[in-house]
This record gives sequence, C-alpha cells and structure tokens, in this order.
Amino acid sequence: RSTRFYTFKVQTMRITKMCKSKDIVTINKIFPGPVIYAQEDDRVIVKVINETPYNTTIHWHGVRQRLSCWFDGPSYITQCPIQAGQSFTYEFTFVKQKGTLLWHAHVSWLRGTVYGAIVVYPRSGVPYPFKYPYEEHIIVLGEYWHKDVVQIEKDTLASGGSPPIADAFTINGHPGPNYNCSANDVYKIDVVPGKTYLLRIINAALNMENFFTIANHKLTIVEADAEYTKPFTVDRLMLSPGQTINVLVTANQPIGKYSMAMGPYMSAKNVSFQNISAIAYFQYIGCTTNSLALEAQLPCFNDNLAVKTIMDGLRSLNPVNVPLEIDTNLFFTIGLNVEQCHSSNPNKSCRGPNGGVVAASMNNISFIKPQVSLLQAYYNEIHGHYTADFPGVPPKVYDFVNGAPNKIPNNTQSLNGTRTMVLEYGSRVQLILQDTGTVSTENHPIHLHGYSFYVVGYGTGNYNPGKAKLNLVDPPYMNTIGVPVGGWAAIRFTADNPGVWFMHCHLEIHMSWGLSMAFIVKNGKGKMETLPHPPANMPKC
Ligand code: C2O
Repeated sequence: RSTRFYTFKVQTMRITKMCKSKDIVTINKIFPGPVIYAQEDDRVIVKVINETPYNTTIHWHGVRQRLSCWFDGPSYITQCPIQAGQSFTYEFTFVKQKGTLLWHAHVSWLRGTVYGAIVVYPRSGVPYPFKYPYEEHIIVLGEYWHKDVVQIEKDTLASGGSPPIADAFTINGHPGPNYNCSANDVYKIDVVPGKTYLLRIINAALNMENFFTIANHKLTIVEADAEYTKPFTVDRLMLSPGQTINVLVTANQPIGKYSMAMGPYMSAKNVSFQNISAIAYFQYIGCTTNSLALEAQLPCFNDNLAVKTIMDGLRSLNPVNVPLEIDTNLFFTIGLNVEQCHSSNPNKSCRGPNGGVVAASMNNISFIKPQVSLLQAYYNEIHGHYTADFPGVPPKVYDFVNGAPNKIPNNTQSLNGTRTMVLEYGSRVQLILQDTGTVSTENHPIHLHGYSFYVVGYGTGNYNPGKAKLNLVDPPYMNTIGVPVGGWAAIRFTADNPGVWFMHCHLEIHMSWGLSMAFIVKNGKGKMETLPHPPANMPKC
C-alpha cells in the first residue's frame, strides 16, 4: 500500500456563472474541487490550509475512517473548525474500501461550493466484476446560487422560512444551455462509437435529490456508495445528496450529440417550482452537426415510482456479514416540525433555530451543535457539552405497530438538545428510520458517518414489524439512504468502529434545522478496537 499526499488550499475565487460574477470558496481555485485518487488500502494525507475568512472543515463522505474518527471532519462533532489562517492535516486509510465517493466541507453551508470527487481503484491486479470499459469520467451534480451560500443559511434561519431554490443545477459546475447566458458553459464528454464508458456520478447538491439520465442510452448500475452491485440496467438514476452511483454506458446509438440531464426529485404532490434541468453533452466523435440528436427526458419531479424502481434494483454483489442477529433494535422518527407559534405573535417565540417556525428532529429532538467538538469532550471526559440520553421519546401518537399510515404525530413542539446515544462496541444494530411525513415534501436522505450500513428494508407508510419483508440476502451497502416521505427504511450495521459518529439528513437545510444526532461507539478490548489518541494539532474552538 502507498501513501498519497495532497495539499488543499482553501481559497476564494472569482467565478462567473449565468453572466453574474461573485467570489466563491474553493479548494486550490478549482471548481468542483480536485479529485482524490487512491487505491484500496492506501493511506491519504491531506493538508488543509485555510486562506479564507471562513471556518472550514473537510469531510470524506463515505470513508469509513476505521480507527481514525479524529479525521472524519464534521465541525463540532469530531473537530473544531479550521479557522482563518490555520491548517489541519487529515490522515486516513481506505481500509477495504474502493469505488467512488466524495469529499465536502462540513461547516455552515460551505459545501455548496467546496466539494469534489474521491476515486479509489481496486488493488493492482484485482479485477473489476465487469469488463473494464474504454474510459471513465466523473460527473458531479451540484446546485449553484448567485448569493453567497453561507449567507443563505444565515438569512434562511433568520427569516424562519425555507431557503431559496438554487439559481441553477450544475453538472461538473456547469449549468448548461437551459440557463441564461450559459450556452457555452456546458460540460461535454466525447465518446467513441461502440465503446463503453464508466461514469462515476456523485450528487453533491446542497438541498436537492436529483435524477440523472442520458438521452436514448441505457445506464447499467454496477456500484452504489462505493460498493459493487449486481448489474442493473435503468433509463435514469436518482441520487440523494451524498450518494454516488457508477454506471456503464455504451455509445451504441446512431452517431450524434445527445444530452445528459440532471434535475430535481421531490416527492411532494402539491409543490410547484420551475423544473429547469442542467444539461451536458454526450457527443459521438464523428458527429458533424451541432444540434441535438435527442433531448434527455427526466422523470416528473415527483415520480416516486421511478425512484422505487431504482431502489428495488440495488442489490449488493458480494454482501459481507449482513448482521442476521440484532442486539440493539432502534426506532427513530425523522421529520420536520412546524412549531406552534406564529410569526405575527412576537411574544410567543418559536423554538426552531433562531426562533423560526420550522424545526427538524429525530425522535422529536432537534439537535443543537455544541461549542466544542463532541469527540474531544467525550475523549477528554469534559462534562456539560452533551448528554447521553438520546433517543428521548418518540412522538406518542405515532402508532407504528398497527401501522396506521401517516397518523399525524404530536410532534409540533420538538425539544432542543445535544443528545447522543452510546453503543457498546460490537453492537449489532438495526435502526428503523421512520419519516413522520407531516410537513416535509421530500425524502430525508439520512447519512451515517463512520460506517456503511445494509439497507435491509424500505417502504411507504408506517413500518410494521409483522409485515415488513427484510432482505437479509443481498441488501445494498450504503452510507446514505433516502427515507421516503411518510415511509421508512431499515438499516443494519455492526458498531465496531469506536468514536463519535454523526448521523443526519443530508439536505443541508434540514441539518440546519436540527435533523441530526450522534452515536458514541465505545472502545472494545483489543488495540484494533480502540480509538487512538488525537493528533497533536487538532484545531481549537
Ligand atoms: Cu456528506 Cu455529514 O456528510
């Protein structure tokens, strides 16, 4: 195994999109940021030097950080932010990990512009489970705002309302011809007729799940969240923010210029918004005309069936140790809460963040970020920064056993707190994530740090333990799962990586509203079961 060194300078850069200029925060003035390349079991050392006024951290999304929780990156969970002028060096190993992942800032809404791909190749000589294609390309989906994204979070929380929809969706940073002034600001792949391509698709959007499709070309899914899947051929994909999917696509259509499109998925029936998609080109070499042979057709933004079809088809190629026995059986509700208060009544202040009307919670507890890092507080036994009494009380009216679908839970007043749940080393955990579905209009893509988990079940309505069919044979092994609106997902993992691990909705606004919690996984007995000491240069809060 080898060690790879990277330097990430956090720098602002002037950028012009849709004929408007602004400064964005980037890594090394590259947008989207530089790609981390490695091989399975390689060690990576990334020195992050913050040359901006913004507090920064970098999270290596989906990297399981085996015994390296200190380098996971979520601000106030495993580290204090890297302040202006400071630096911090991340060191971790891709232990038994290969595939496509992403890195992104994990403080405020900085990841709106600070994100990039991670590509981990199999060890030399280890073949892919499919014929290695002619060429590969990275496709990072994003959202772009003319306003400063960090400011948007502040303004949104201060207003108590919802954040503005992005000014553009982007493919590798490019909005494409559907947007003003962007006919030439478009990403393009040149393809050789007859050849097969591997596309590493990453959803780095802040607040939106997205569909992706290529006109007239089939996509064969071979990997999801950096784990091989049984090959599964579809016309389109849906990726939650944080998810990655590798597909094979063969240029087997008449020579021409085809469009690739990405656009929003939102399961709400009664939401309307301008459904403008980002376009890129999939252009055959030898194509002489400049007009599109065929335009990509995205599903309707609320096409839940399309999403279910994709989810149902995701199966692990080689599932390793799916936990068949459970010793820790958890049930967490997730959802948005409308606080019982009214903005026209200033005396009755709302308990959403900054007195807002909307809060978001797990088991009715809206997470408040602490002033220090939880991991440091836990490791050094500094009291007073968090409590270990999660899960609290799930909403009482929520009758999940009898499965009355979407009976409205009495969760209009969530509690605020920095609550964690302690897991014994080696616990075999089943966690049912149940969306209460009362307010929210979209899936909650729940992401767990430090682990991948098997998604053993998935459905609409309320989880019913008597009826739910679980797949313990070949469930997909993911790090982020879009829990359907008013529906549920069942995940399983073995808590064998000690540390403090954040779990949250990967829609940034929901995280701002408190839809998160943290697990503390205790040390086991052996050296390989114990979190090492922190590095000497941890940033200070
Ligand atoms: Cu990709 Cu906690 O995030």
